[in-house]
Parts: sequence; C-alpha cells; structure tokens
Amino acid sequence: MAVRRSGSNIVLGVTGSIAAYKSCDLIRRLQEAGYSVAVVMTKEAEAFISPLTLETLSGQRVSREMFKGAADSWEIEHIGLAEQADLVLIAPATAHILAKLANGLADDLICSTALASLAPKLIAPAMNTNMYGHPVTQANIKRLKEIGYHFIGPTEGRLACGTTGLGHLADVMTIVEAVNAILK
Ligand SMILES: Cc1cc2nc3c(=O)[nH]c(=O)nc-3n(C[C@H](O)[C@H](O)[C@H](O)COP(=O)(O)O)c2cc1C
Repeated sequence: MAVRRSGSNIVLGVTGSIAAYKSCDLIRRLQEAGYSVAVVMTKEAEAFISPLTLETLSGQRVSREMFKGAADSWEIEHIGLAEQADLVLIAPATAHILAKLANGLADDLICSTALASLAPKLIAPAMNTNMYGHPVTQANIKRLKEIGYHFIGPTEGRLACGTTGLGHLADVMTIVEAVNAILK
C-alpha cells in the first residue's frame, strides 16, 4: 500500500465503459508511483466491474452512493472526496459523463465531486469512434478544456464494438505519466 503524502491523493472516477476493467491496472500503477487512490464509481460502471475488486485493489472503500454516506463518519461524501483530492482523475470517462461535467450536472458522486473540488481534473475518455467524433461530444470536450480540465487520449485502437478507430482508452502508463506531469 502506498504511503500517503501531501499531493498524492487521487480520486479516481470509474464510469460505465467496457474499458472499466483497465482501472484495476491503473490503480496498481498509480500506487506504484506513490499515489493513494480512492475510487468513486457510477452505478453503470458496476455493470462492468465489481466494487469489491476496486475496493480490494485500492485498499479503500469504494464510494458509490450519494445519499448513503460513509459508514464510519458523518461526512457528506462528495464534499469529503472533493477536499481529499489532489487530483480528480476520471478513467475511463464515458460520453455521458463528459456531457454531464460540461453542463454542470451533479446527480452522481463523480460529477458532484468534480464540481466541489478545486483540485485539477484529468479525463481519459473511452468510447465508440462515432460517439467520440460526434459534434456534441467534441463540443463538451472543448468546453471542459476551456474551463481547465486536462485530457489524455483517447487513442486509436481496437474498440469493443469490433471496429478500429479513435476512442480507445489511453495506455495506462500514459495516464500515470499525465498524472505525474500535473502533480509533480
Ligand atoms: C457493452 C457496453 C459497452 C459500453 N461502452 C461504452 C464506452 O466505452 N464508452 C461510452 O461512452 N459508453 C459506453 N457504453 C454506454 C454507457 O454504459 C452508458 O452511456 C451509460 O449510461 C454511462 O453511464 P455513466 O457515464 O454514468 O457511467 C457502453 C454500453 C454497453 C452496454
């Protein structure tokens, strides 16, 4: 388990993409780089990867529900997450979460944490090529970049839908390097 130090706390948002399984490797590589990783996942992400897996790998309770609260404290969960984050990383990020973030929606723990946090945000999108290239998705990304969100990827690669194109989650080590570049 990584030693916690100032500037090393990452809140990792995992969303409902087929690439969600890669968050397991991402957690490990971030820990090896010296970061502590607290995972927040959307309800849809649970269709792709189990909270138990992410909990076991991160060594921390996975935040999943806005209104349930932390079992061991009175803290409002998204505010606690926002305050502990030195970086909010969303990987993989769906087209859906990009649309919500770009429009200030706050009806899930990832979006509300991102809104409440003053920490830098790094987004690693993963989706079908047409979803990525859609003018609405591109407009959402442009808006988020203007606000100051950092992006890494996507890259070209084989996609779950069977095609090859732009929409592949950036390589895990490339994401770690992007985290390092922001935090170090
Ligand atoms: C098998 C499967 C794979 C999917 N993969 C992606 C994906 O890689 N990227 C994406 O944007 N949406 C993907 N979706 C659609 C999202 O799961 C859907 O938009 C969902 O509402 C996203 O929820 P979230 O952003 O709150 O996690 C996929 C759906 C299915 C059924």
